[in-house]
Amino acid sequence: MSASLSETGSRLSIRMPFDMHHHVRGGETLKIVGEMLAQRFAGAIIMPNTQPPITTAAMVEAYRAEVIAATGPSFQPLMTLYLTDTLDPAQVRLARTHHGLAGIKYYPRGLTTNSDSGVANPASLWTAGSTPFEVLRTLADLDAVLLLHAADGFAADGSELDPYDQETHFVRETLPRIVEAHPALKISVEHLSTKEGAAFMSANQSAHLGCSLTAQHLLLDRRDVHRGGFRPHMSWWPIIQREEDKLALRDLAASGSPFVWLGSDSAPHPIGKKETDCCAGGVMMVHAGIELYAEAFDLMGALDRFEAFAALNGPRFYGVAPSDRTIDLVREDWVVRQTFHITSDEPRMDEIRPFRLGEKVAWKLAA
Ligand code: DOR
Ligand code: ZN
Repeated sequence: MSASLSETGSRLSIRMPFDMHHHVRGGETLKIVGEMLAQRFAGAIIMPNTQPPITTAAMVEAYRAEVIAATGPSFQPLMTLYLTDTLDPAQVRLARTHHGLAGIKYYPRGLTTNSDSGVANPASLWTAGSTPFEVLRTLADLDAVLLLHAADGFAADGSELDPYDQETHFVRETLPRIVEAHPALKISVEHLSTKEGAAFMSANQSAHLGCSLTAQHLLLDRRDVHRGGFRPHMSWWPIIQREEDKLALRDLAASGSPFVWLGSDSAPHPIGKKETDCCAGGVMMVHAGIELYAEAFDLMGALDRFEAFAALNGPRFYGVAPSDRTIDLVREDWVVRQTFHITSDEPRMDEIRPFRLGEKVAWKLAA
């Protein structure tokens, strides 16, 4: 079975994709997300930046059960642990052996949502003897993946970096040191956002190094985010960069490289966390979680490379079998109309606004 694109290019059938980066949250939000996720994806990497973060094998198991309850049993949750300064390698081993652990997520402390428990000093990732270093050794030993939120907050001299330079600094100064210190470790750079990042991936891609790309970083640049005023419902970490960055990411996505895959970074927040002082980074994307990527690949003239990007490359890197189910998409405009409601007594905390509310998406799931 392989992808088929109709002669007019307006209908596409691909193996059911995997979302290699998804924040499903918990409680009512998880229930809302789970249904839309399982409609579109055979499985997903489940991000661990819950409150509290997922740091033990027992928490992995409990969260996995919650995810399956929300998605249904045919969905494959690929679980992650949250890398802290005290994560226990024994828990990593246990979670990998018994509870479906796919990898560990590195969060630079303070640079994104729920990252307060993240590693305090990135140098501990390549400094032998530190707890994070030992965890990465264990991870390599278990053939599991290190997922990197590729951002540095500070330069070596202690000065605070410009937010638009956080990823480029990481790619230049931090990533090569991690790769060098852990040659056997599989590393996925998450939600790549810059042309420097894309160049690094092209130059260094291997069976041990790959990256995920979001639809928002392929579709938007910072003109969109600031047109007529700052738009909090287009605010993510990593932040949306320049047009030249978007174009470099599109080239990478369209290159057909086996080490590039889909990771939506869908990250719902209630409106009260978005339209406020210090807007939270992250937006719900799952309601159009595959459709927006089809739109981007169509725009790039790369629909023939869509199935590999969406359904094959990610699972292969993680050692997961691709799905034997298929999903059909049609090129047909629809307007995002629905907002999502959760229970809260606080004003504006009971509603989640999805990406592109009130606007068109160019592809939809076939009926
Ligand atoms: O935009 C983002 N939202 N980036 C992240 O790294 C975290 C995520 C979230 O959890 O809201
Ligand atoms: Zn994320």
